[in-house]
Amino acid sequence: MRDAAPQTIYLADYTPFGFIIDSVSLHFDLDPRKTRVKSRIAFRPNPDATDNTFFLHGENLNLISAMIDGTPVTPKLTEAGLTCDVPDAPFVWEAEVEIDPTGNTALEGLYMSNGMYCTQCEAEGFRKITYYPDRPDVMAVFTVTINGPHPVLLSNGNPVSAAEHVAEWHDPWPKPSYLFALVAGDLVAHPGSFTTKSGRDVALNLYVRPGDEGKCAFGMQALKESMKWDEDVYGREYDLDLFNIVAVDDFNMGAMENKGLNVFNSSAVLASPETSTDMNFERIEAIIAHEYFHNWTGNRITCRDWFQLCLKEGLTVFRDSQFTSDIRSASVKRISDVIDLRARQFPEDQGPLAHPVRPESFQEINNFYTATIYEKGAEVIGMLKLLVGDDAYAKAATLYFDRHDGQACTIEDWLRVFEDTTGRDLTQFKRWYGQAGTPHLSVTEAWDHGKLTLHFKQHTPPSAATPDPQPQVLPIAVGLIDQDGDEVEETNILEMTQAEQSFVFDNLGTRPIVSILRGFSAPVVLTQDLSDADRAHLLAYDTDPFNRWEQGRILARSSLMAMILEGKKPNKDWLKGIRAVISDEHLDPAYRALMLGLPSQSDLARALAEDGHTPDPDIIYAAVEATRAAMAKSYANLLPTLYRRHTVSEDYEPDAIQSGKRALSNAALSLLTRIDDAAAAQKQYDAADNMTQQLSALANLIHAGKGSKAVQAFEAQWKDDRLVMDKWFGLQVMEADPEEAHEVVETLTKHADFNWKNPNRFRSVLGAFAAHHGGFHHASGAGYRLLADWLIKLDPLNPQTTARMCSAFQTWKRYDADRQALIKTELDRILAQPDLSRDTTEMLTRIRGA
Ligand code: ARG
Ligand code: ZN
Repeated sequence: MRDAAPQTIYLADYTPFGFIIDSVSLHFDLDPRKTRVKSRIAFRPNPDATDNTFFLHGENLNLISAMIDGTPVTPKLTEAGLTCDVPDAPFVWEAEVEIDPTGNTALEGLYMSNGMYCTQCEAEGFRKITYYPDRPDVMAVFTVTINGPHPVLLSNGNPVSAAEHVAEWHDPWPKPSYLFALVAGDLVAHPGSFTTKSGRDVALNLYVRPGDEGKCAFGMQALKESMKWDEDVYGREYDLDLFNIVAVDDFNMGAMENKGLNVFNSSAVLASPETSTDMNFERIEAIIAHEYFHNWTGNRITCRDWFQLCLKEGLTVFRDSQFTSDIRSASVKRISDVIDLRARQFPEDQGPLAHPVRPESFQEINNFYTATIYEKGAEVIGMLKLLVGDDAYAKAATLYFDRHDGQACTIEDWLRVFEDTTGRDLTQFKRWYGQAGTPHLSVTEAWDHGKLTLHFKQHTPPSAATPDPQPQVLPIAVGLIDQDGDEVEETNILEMTQAEQSFVFDNLGTRPIVSILRGFSAPVVLTQDLSDADRAHLLAYDTDPFNRWEQGRILARSSLMAMILEGKKPNKDWLKGIRAVISDEHLDPAYRALMLGLPSQSDLARALAEDGHTPDPDIIYAAVEATRAAMAKSYANLLPTLYRRHTVSEDYEPDAIQSGKRALSNAALSLLTRIDDAAAAQKQYDAADNMTQQLSALANLIHAGKGSKAVQAFEAQWKDDRLVMDKWFGLQVMEADPEEAHEVVETLTKHADFNWKNPNRFRSVLGAFAAHHGGFHHASGAGYRLLADWLIKLDPLNPQTTARMCSAFQTWKRYDADRQALIKTELDRILAQPDLSRDTTEMLTRIRGA
């Protein structure tokens, strides 16, 4: 079905809906092809609205009948919905529509996945279920009855009654339509329970397909920990008698926080030691927490309109990272978050897709579930907390919940609770929500008889979204380390508000080394004129774990840049500095594993482009490989011990301690493989009894060119486990040589189990390929062509997943003229497809530019 013509929606045009809804009842007669949905909605005129047009959204619906107060009416239908004349008084709207869940391949609205019915309504999917004011500021109490031949029939809220093939649900909390959910299928429940701090007994269930029962225990435990944490840290209790989670195989994203009925991509909830890696466990724990935390930040307090998406997403990401930091290691979590921010948000913020944390316009809201709104949105809250302090942050959050419970809010409401709590004027701080672009911060030092002056300059490069950026409020965390490696000044938060600003540290004995932007206190690109020797000093002695890691990373980057640009050898001092850190048995193994990482190839490409060079993917790849080889050689006598000492022999636990040890032993293994002819990797593969060990060994074997046997064995072992097979597909792409990557992808896409209509499987191959820097950017253009072919094929079925993957092209202006021309040809070829979706059209138009 064709999309309605693209239309740009503006924040400035917001007006409230002309009606208030007193109640909604929905009745579903489920059928794979012809599901009937009856709605009965009590409306009354909204006294605060100026426009009283009765418009209901509706897409791909077959209207059977409509009535107002029991009298049949004939509404005017358009591609986007309907209008109808209505009384200037309270009235009841009743409609019946027919929809086709099987034909719904976009996985938005009501659709089928492996014979089960499920829904995804955020942001604007409810309009594919029935005619409704499908906007988040219209909140209502829902009653739902489901009629279907399935043992499990679920919707939001509490169950009212259940008979054979009929279930009735009532959700007492007013909610917007995007939080509606329905699930029906042949599912089994993994039960649990939780008692809230005020004594409410909550029944918990994790619903899965038969056969997946053994992968539920961890998710259930994570849910209980999340519920407890939100009580302890934010004072937020759960508010229904029941909390259900359902695992679904076909899902466009990670998970969805529908009230009382979270729906999860099965990859984001199912876990077992044999089939999931440590990283999977940690991600699942974080996503379960994220969706649960939405119950307050998103559901009880929701967004007035979709421009305010960061109000719930930035805040909820911030909350889930606090949770992970509390139950695992705070410094490891912070470093991982910064790596992720630089990998996903920086390219967005510095390219053609740059948009503010609160955008001012969009065509397709699904395209704005971005790293900027989620991750930069979370960074903004972290800065706010640094600026006001922990106590004021806690008070403001409590005020937010007290003041706005049950409302649909804006960023202004959020900032006002901070202003009212602290008396601070946050007008300038609000720029973080309104301006696109990553600020560049540079600092110079002056030393004069015990007085150290730091002079900062900030500058945000202009973008299409923000042509004239103004200075931001920057919390800059600074500490001082002396020549002996002692901290002479603990962390201070300098508050920078001007384009240029100086800060003075007085009464210092000897000249210290300045540790700046500790904990990555603001999402900026920092330039600090430190010598390599000073950086090595901080790498050895900085008391801030983030900055210690950061200095190692900067040294690694300059070593790589010198190799790429001047053909130099890897920097010996950096190798030595890292060696000291990874040998320090007082340090957390997980942290040491991070120290063995290198900047990604696309990070290097971005750094090169930023310095005015044209990145050559082949040279970047070669430099990274040569660096890994040099590390392996230089640490040769250390690696076997490092590997053995941190190999876990106890029964598998996915906790921070064990997973940290495995991270370090596997980081050592990947270097060791370069000097032992993959002997240790083969041994580990043969002995592995958990997926972390098995997959890491397999990755090393493939990378070393010795993987063919293990690849076959792995497939034979796991062919019936779809989540493990996603890893099998993905790993072969990730570990492929750049010269061969596109052929590997072509072969894999011909595999009998390459079900391209399943988003997880599609992403495991094409998503991994788009992230394979050398393979995707192969000089022949074969990579660009291959991805474009698949995007063209997927778009008519699933616009959301297609559009998301278009971002692979967002960095195209970094590369040489030949590659740019090749990419442009592909962008134009996709854009020329008849009936290209609104999602993909918007993405590619923005990426391509004029
Ligand atoms: N709200 C969901 C979350 O927790 C994500 C929904 C994504 N929706 C979309 N249309 N992309 O993050
Ligand atoms: Zn979310």
